[in-house]
Amino acid sequence: MNKHQNETESLNPAIDFLMAVHEAVPGITETVLDTGRTADGRSSYEILCDAAEPLHGKTVVDLACGSGRLTELLVPRVGTDGKVIGIDLSKSELNLAQSRLQGIERVQFLRESACRLSPPNASAE
Ligand SMILES: C[S@@+](CC[C@H](N)C(=O)[O-])C[C@H]1O[C@@H](n2cnc3c(N)ncnc32)[C@H](O)[C@@H]1O
Repeated sequence: MNKHQNETESLNPAIDFLMAVHEAVPGITETVLDTGRTADGRSSYEILCDAAEPLHGKTVVDLACGSGRLTELLVPRVGTDGKVIGIDLSKSELNLAQSRLQGIERVQFLRESACRLSPPNASAE
């Protein structure tokens, strides 16, 4: 039984594999995706945020938030009246995300599976 299986229910071999990768190399996605830039200097995370606006005052769920790079960019966009909920199953990824955003009250992190979310339906809008 591996570390992930000790701490959470084993969901299926594909998710177990993904969790093993993210526990071994937390931040791996950000390391790859945050390096590329468009001609005007924007990252793929910034392009995604811009496409989702307006977000002011909304509650936004960053599902599979990983190390929190997108979560971090969403915080100023929701403003002081909004909230960002970052959800991920990987403990190591969430540790990075929580360190990055510690002390910011309008951010909440949940360690849970995208297949079984605890926030009720329609609780984020
Ligand atoms: C490709 S990474 C993306 C991370 C982040 N959104 C980013 O772009 O930097 C995928 C993330 O999904 C998480 N993940 C994979 N399967 C999951 C599941 N069933 N429930 C919750 N998180 C999951 C992994 O732990 C990982 O952090």
